[in-house]
Amino acid sequence: MCGIIGVVGGGAAAPVLLGGLRRLEYRGYDSAGLALSGEGRLLVRRAVGKVAALTERIAQDDPEGPFGRWTTGIAHTRWATHGAPTEANAHPHLDRTGRIAVVHNGIIENYRQLRSRLEAAGHRFASETDTEVLARLIGDRHQGDLRAAVVAALREVEGAYGVAVLCADEPGALVVARKGSPLCVGIAEGRVLVASDPAALVAHTRQVIHLDDGDVALLRADSVDVSGLDLSPRHRSPDELPPDVAAAERDGHEHFMHKEMHEQPESVRNALRGRIDLRNGDAVLAGLGRGEDGEDATVRRAILLGCGTSLHACMVGEFAFEELAQLPAEAEQAAEFRYRNPLVGPDDLVVAVSQSGETADTLAAVKEARSRGARVRGLVNVVGSAIARQTGRGVYLHVGPEVSVASTKAFTGQVAVLLLMALRLGRSRRLSPERGRAMAAEIARLPELVERVLERESSVIRAAERMAHSEHAFFLGRGPMHPVALEGALKLKEISYVHAEGYHAAELKHGPIALLTEGTPVVVIANRSPVRDKTLSNAEECRARGAGLVAVVTQGQEGPPGAWADLVIPDCDPLVATVPAAVALQMLAYHVARIRGCPIDQPRNLAKSVTVE
Ligand code: AGP
Repeated sequence: MCGIIGVVGGGAAAPVLLGGLRRLEYRGYDSAGLALSGEGRLLVRRAVGKVAALTERIAQDDPEGPFGRWTTGIAHTRWATHGAPTEANAHPHLDRTGRIAVVHNGIIENYRQLRSRLEAAGHRFASETDTEVLARLIGDRHQGDLRAAVVAALREVEGAYGVAVLCADEPGALVVARKGSPLCVGIAEGRVLVASDPAALVAHTRQVIHLDDGDVALLRADSVDVSGLDLSPRHRSPDELPPDVAAAERDGHEHFMHKEMHEQPESVRNALRGRIDLRNGDAVLAGLGRGEDGEDATVRRAILLGCGTSLHACMVGEFAFEELAQLPAEAEQAAEFRYRNPLVGPDDLVVAVSQSGETADTLAAVKEARSRGARVRGLVNVVGSAIARQTGRGVYLHVGPEVSVASTKAFTGQVAVLLLMALRLGRSRRLSPERGRAMAAEIARLPELVERVLERESSVIRAAERMAHSEHAFFLGRGPMHPVALEGALKLKEISYVHAEGYHAAELKHGPIALLTEGTPVVVIANRSPVRDKTLSNAEECRARGAGLVAVVTQGQEGPPGAWADLVIPDCDPLVATVPAAVALQMLAYHVARIRGCPIDQPRNLAKSVTVE
């Protein structure tokens, strides 16, 4: 997610804006910029890279000039979604007159249609962003009242936004609005601020108004005037922020991992946004190509490449591609693929799955597949990353920056998009409209399904308390839940340092069951599925040998007798159930690690992106 900071009044705005951007750096970004308004004009500075580059850019200006005197401004750290990380795409963006500046968080889904309409009216765009579309729309609606212009423009926008707007003709005023992307207003002495994250405000005030969806606010140095999009007044009273800045960055969560786990209803919603066609039972994935390109229909096999958690997402994708698209599919460990002289060619669709887009083995595997003529697509979170550039086409995750080394929202976003890819490929082949519509509807439920699992966190904590002092654990699953078992074991290993093994549930009796002793924790995924009874039998084999069972079960179904705990997930399609099941296991690993007093966000020996072989 991008970062927004704005200020009106109380002295020079530039230092406040730069300080706020530095506070927001932890969220991850690739460029930064700011705009000041004063003396009837705007000043804009933008820079690719870190906030330090922007600070350097501004230091070349006269410290006695506007950057030392003007008191109204907005600033932004950009996490690229539409358009690569370049200075031209960095925020703020201007309207046609250059007298209105906008910074924006979120995704405008109908920006292409709006852009075409503006271009037909003579606009010449300077960037690839959806934000510039909004800036130009506001400028076209501006007739002297900035808030009215912002409201008129936002009424035409579909999608999510958190915006801050300033105008050279209205010095001492900011207009801010939110829908689906957080925005809060800070009230300080003789100064009002706005930010996408309270962490940027704590240095100035702890009196903060968290705006609600649909709020529009006119900010002046001594007033906050909140209304709806219909301009009807809305009363918003300030909350008291926690004193600890770090806690504010984690939005009150003890760890980034906990914050990111709980962001998953929103991050999955963003990953699915604008991509589900419920009416036709299809998926809309521009980067994957369409049937008329011959891409979907002529593909003979899919190869899904990844490492670590991303490889586990590929393994779920393998089941989805074969079930929904009737397409032979293989999940491949990228390092293995690149060195084994792979049999791959022009009829193969190769999908490289990577949160960072910088994993060396996955990047090398992409190059290998391309050199053999395969159709290579990326499923990546970081826009403009090496794998995104190397594949040239694909689907961005849009789950926002993932700070904790242990991947959570990236995994659930990857699985969600892989389900959409399978649906798309299926509908260009033999998947019926009826089955397509049923699947599309199930996938669309994912944000709510994840929310309901998160609501049961207290039952997960009880299970974690039973497991927390064991040095070994097993995770069992069948079908698409086998990779989820592997992922659950990886989560526990990497953040709690417990030796955990994920196995296919049928595999345990072929040797590993020799390791079971009294009280060995065995986590078994026994959701509603054609193989649930078999899995319950495997669980009983373990319990009969003294294991302590923690079972993932579907709401309304019995778990294995004598289990330590049942982790309940909502009833849904077995492929879709991989996501809520994974969330339950993420929480289990998190609470075991917390009880064991582990660092969690930065585990020993680990890096967030493995850019070496
Ligand atoms: C998972 O929690 C780890 N962070 C790690 O396995 C990660 O998934 C793997 O290194 C691949 O990273 P990528 O998704 O950025 O390519």
